[in-house]
Amino acid sequence: MVKICCIGAGYVGGPTMAMIALKCPDIEVVVVDISKPRIAAWNSDELPIYEPGLDEVVKKCRGKNLFFSTEVEKHVAEADIVFVSVNTPTKTRGLGAGKAADLTYWESAARMIADVSKSDKIVVEKSTVPVKTAEAIEKILTHNNKGINFQILSNPEFLAEGTAIEDLEKPDRVLIGGRTTPEGQKAVAALKAVYAHWVPEDRIITTNLWSAELSKLAANAFLAQRISSINAMSALCESTGADVSEVAYAVGKDSRIGPKFLNASVGFGGSCFQKDILNLVYICECNGLPEVAHYWKQVVSINDYQKTRFVKRVVSSMFNTVSGKKIAILGFAFKKDTGDTRETPAIDVCHGLLGDKAQLSIYDPQVTEDQIKRDLAMNKFDWDHPQHLQPQSPTAFKQVSVVWDAYEACKDAHGICIITEWDEFKKLDYQKLYDNMQKPAFLFDGRNVLNVEEMRKIGFVVYSIGKPLDPWVKDLQVSI
Ligand code: UDX
Ligand code: UDX
Repeated sequence: MVKICCIGAGYVGGPTMAMIALKCPDIEVVVVDISKPRIAAWNSDELPIYEPGLDEVVKKCRGKNLFFSTEVEKHVAEADIVFVSVNTPTKTRGLGAGKAADLTYWESAARMIADVSKSDKIVVEKSTVPVKTAEAIEKILTHNNKGINFQILSNPEFLAEGTAIEDLEKPDRVLIGGRTTPEGQKAVAALKAVYAHWVPEDRIITTNLWSAELSKLAANAFLAQRISSINAMSALCESTGADVSEVAYAVGKDSRIGPKFLNASVGFGGSCFQKDILNLVYICECNGLPEVAHYWKQVVSINDYQKTRFVKRVVSSMFNTVSGKKIAILGFAFKKDTGDTRETPAIDVCHGLLGDKAQLSIYDPQVTEDQIKRDLAMNKFDWDHPQHLQPQSPTAFKQVSVVWDAYEACKDAHGICIITEWDEFKKLDYQKLYDNMQKPAFLFDGRNVLNVEEMRKIGFVVYSIGKPLDPWVKDLQVSI
């Protein structure tokens, strides 16, 4: 029986390994992690991450050929294939601070694999890493070896949160990068055989190591670029009276462009886009390509601009101050159908409003009060360091309350900001919300989930990203 061990039981490692276990009953899969609470949660009825369909997959396999454990070294030693899916945070100090990936956890994982191994192994890069990381890891592995053969492969994950199970079950493609030597190609074939249990062969792409590593960064950069492109257009739509949804629809009908990933929003979030682009920017700079670096940096700059623009719209519409006013924040996760808050635009929007002394009442169906308060107290980039997974005493925020119901959040509020596109926000009784709010009642739709005309009929002053401005909003705008 082939044995797989995955280091890192996070959003990537957990669901990916659960799917491999489900589709490959002949393979034993053990997911290991240094975090005891995380592993305990994976072994309980309350999984540590919320992902539609994940519970069923885990329940089907756990205890049969899927195991979660903190005995990292034991399971690595026994495995034929070791996946590494640990954090690769953005460096916060030293060379490349604010841009380069911090490979501390990856490096220590590689050293540990070298130390405990007694048999040949295939080591698979699952975390997103800078191009040529595999080469560095290979050096650590081979310099420590005791006659053991390590083959390193890059197998980037393309799942998106909220649809992870669907994405894993029917991937657009599986990408495997490896050395072109016969041993390298043998390792590629071994990993291909795992995926071939359920993925059609023509969807399994094999490349050299560096192409696979770069493809992951490039794919995320292209996706994020589409969002920044439509968000840049949204600003122009507001100034000209065009409607960004109409523009996106017309543009997306061109089959060369396509309709996906053209939803204007308050900004993209998530653990990958910003981090991977900054990483790409740093790699370009290090390779003497400042123009290319500058080009990609703009994708992140427009995203920051979009978040700031949203906050400015809120403040300027409400007579240029939100001081002491209650504002309901509906949604805190970085997208719907996940409880993940990493790099969520909600953090920046809340910081912006708190900076103007607003009183916030936050509701998200999947994010806990503890998590929200921790996020608001955290420094930029700190979220990707494993310490944040340990329980911390939340900083008390006098200006923030977290509630468990949208109606409660909006009661007596001056304004509502929709930050996450949860389906339940489309179905709320907005007349009821309006009746219980201060007047004039403001509604700022950061995800364009509401019918603007209907909301205006109820009486709301409405701002919707990239849509013709409410006369009220238009009159009160300072230049943004
Ligand atoms: C991770 C990386 O964060 C990301 O850079 C990469 O692109 C894909 O893999 P994700 O699974 O979403 O993404 O991260 P996270 O949920 O933080 O999981 C990482 C896990 O690794 C954590 O549970 C952490 O405890 C564990 N870990 C970290 C180890 O087991 N050992 C370490 O040395 C460091
Ligand atoms: C992304 C990639 O899609 C995935 O392939 C990669 O493996 C990891 O990074 P993820 O971050 O989980 O996945 O979610 P994604 O659906 O890409 O959304 C990212 C952010 O962009 C979210 O904040 C989302 O709300 C936002 N978004 C997405 C928009 O603002 N507009 C869109 O049209 C699409």
